[in-house]
Amino acid sequence: MTFLVLLGAPGAGKGTQAPILAARLGLPHVATGDLFRAAVHEGSAVGLEARRYMERGQLVPDSITVKMLLDRLAQPDAALGAILDGFPRNLAQADILEGALADRSSRVNVALEIEVPEAELVRRLSGRWICKANGHVYNETSHPPRVPGRCDLDDSPLIQREDDRSETVAARLTAQLTALREVVGYYQERGLLRTIDGRRPVAEVTAALAAAALAAAADETGSSPRGAGN
Ligand code: AP5
Repeated sequence: MTFLVLLGAPGAGKGTQAPILAARLGLPHVATGDLFRAAVHEGSAVGLEARRYMERGQLVPDSITVKMLLDRLAQPDAALGAILDGFPRNLAQADILEGALADRSSRVNVALEIEVPEAELVRRLSGRWICKANGHVYNETSHPPRVPGRCDLDDSPLIQREDDRSETVAARLTAQLTALREVVGYYQERGLLRTIDGRRPVAEVTAALAAAALAAAADETGSSPRGAGN
């Protein structure tokens, strides 16, 4: 089983990179933010509750988030592992994940952190557009669509996420960066952290993430020294 945790601040590029890595590694992409946005779209009780926190840039309470994530990991496509994007987001979630995977005789194999300076995060989030149908990610400057306002992949309209408004972006960064640093420390202490410079173009970041994931897998089988990655 392979469980890979993708860490990074809002706007670091997790949602851009996770589907590419998922396709390369043959693992499902499990993103708590996407699960929440789907629940909001459906108008479910979880969605209505989550929206109150997402709109303010705050973390949704663990009581809601953890159940949603564990239900998703119980689905058959995640039986052999998953790429976790946006979970864990605090130490309590990290501990719960460790326990839940131990119950399956498994564990997090590697935590890949995409590191991007705060000023660049703000630039990226204010220029982000996603497609309404499937959430494919674009950026006004670094990754514009071929036809303005339409998704290259499914032609659905591009919209701005509610939490990408400038006042919410600032609140998200303020509210979430401390907890992110704690989660990064959690995986560092366990020798599972690999940090990637996320300022580079998308393809270079993908290559660095894939190399770090492979190096971690090789470490586990004892065929190469721990350390590569950036
Ligand atoms: P979530 O959807 O997880 O949002 P996030 O972590 O804030 O991350 P983002 O989706 O904003 O950014 P990203 O890192 O995916 O960047 P992207 O690839 O899009 O969560 C949303 C909310 O749900 C949270 O605020 C919280 O309320 C709640 N939530 C979710 N999980 C939770 C949990 N576990 N516990 C509690 N609450 C939870 O890229 C950003 C932009 O940059 C794009 O325009 C992209 O095109 C561009 N870009 C990407 N890579 C590059 C590059 N290398 N160079 C230039 N531009 C780039």
